[in-house]
Amino acid sequence: MGVLKAIHRAASVWTSPASPEDYLQIINPLASARQLRGVVTEVRRHGARSATISFRPGRGWEPHLAGQWARVGVEINGVRQWRSYSLSAAQGHDPEITVTAIGRVSRHLVEHTKTADVLFLAPPQGEFILPTGPRPLLMITAGSGITPVMSMLRTLIPRRPDADVVLIHSARNEDDALFIDELRTMDRQYAGLTVVIHFTGNNGRIDFSNASAVETVCPDWRSRKAYVCGPTELLDDTEKLWANAGLPQGLQVERFAPALLAPSDTDGGTITFAKSDKEAVCDGSTPILEVGEEAGVIMPSGCRMGICRTCLTPLVSGQVRDLRTGEIHADEGELIQTCITAAVGPVHLEV
Ligand SMILES: Cc1cc2nc3c(=O)[nH]c(=O)nc-3n(C[C@H](O)[C@H](O)[C@H](O)COP(=O)(O)OP(=O)(O)OC[C@H]3O[C@@H](n4cnc5c(N)ncnc54)[C@H](O)[C@@H]3O)c2cc1C
Ligand code: FES
Repeated sequence: MGVLKAIHRAASVWTSPASPEDYLQIINPLASARQLRGVVTEVRRHGARSATISFRPGRGWEPHLAGQWARVGVEINGVRQWRSYSLSAAQGHDPEITVTAIGRVSRHLVEHTKTADVLFLAPPQGEFILPTGPRPLLMITAGSGITPVMSMLRTLIPRRPDADVVLIHSARNEDDALFIDELRTMDRQYAGLTVVIHFTGNNGRIDFSNASAVETVCPDWRSRKAYVCGPTELLDDTEKLWANAGLPQGLQVERFAPALLAPSDTDGGTITFAKSDKEAVCDGSTPILEVGEEAGVIMPSGCRMGICRTCLTPLVSGQVRDLRTGEIHADEGELIQTCITAAVGPVHLEV
């Protein structure tokens, strides 16, 4: 047994029934050997639906690269829920996330977070980052998809007089547009940045299914490294556009939700959550993670889009379908990713 473990065990005897962790956290909320945490230092609201939450992370946090994201956990009604958020602050600055309220966790973060609250964290990760050498860039974003790109612009533009970046950003309207004043100021202040803001409320969505819109705003788009983040339709259209232009490597896409196959008419089934002693009937298109949570099962989760593998759960029996590829998994004891698989017939899970 290591020295630290021995000290921890001795302390447990004196602090029982609460663990030494519980006492440590009263003294210092960032002190936890088990779970990385951060203390909220500021909350800035943007309109009714969004907020930027700055936090001071504890030991175990790695400084983020511009464009990366982190898993953030909050407790809602006593249950810890995890979601992923891009780190919108410039590289080298204290981290912050900018959250738009669309569902359970984001609404909680936007409406209830206050200074001195504690967030559960996992270290930053992600490959949606700036190129290592100088290159002309094209950023295409919509809605909350601006967040990783904001970190890139804040990092690059003030420090690099040779930067050459075109940003095409869509938002529903002026009130909904995140960072709009800062983007307009940067656009005026720095010759290396051109910002084009498009309001979909008045003008409809920009059509990226062919090259004409992007050609008009940015005639040399083919020679730029492109980054896209926003709703699924925007990502799918731009991926096809760049592929049809023979430039699939020139485009990098960040998805906030997984690219799933169209809902199939495959029958679902009854899922038995063995350890939790719960059952739920579901269709063949809803991820098992969502079915379990809805039934009140405490399901492990992280990115909720098939990247982080935090949701891996042993399949005791039955068949599940990968909602991204259609592949069937049916091996007893196989670890399945509940966030991107659905039941095909009766399924037993060890959770
Ligand atoms: C790498 C990564 C980075 C992310 N960065 C941010 C960020 O910077 N800011 C932010 O607000 N959110 C971001 N998200 C989305 C975030 O993780 C949550 O999915 C989102 O907050 C919804 O969670 P919820 O619990 O509120 O909604 P839920 O109750 O989980 O349900 C919301 C539904 O909407 C879908 N969805 C997720 N994101 C969007 C979206 N932007 N627009 C429309 N539908 C969506 C989900 O797939 C789900 O089906 C990111 C996600 C990933 C994977
Ligand atoms: S929650 Fe990240 S892979 Fe399933």
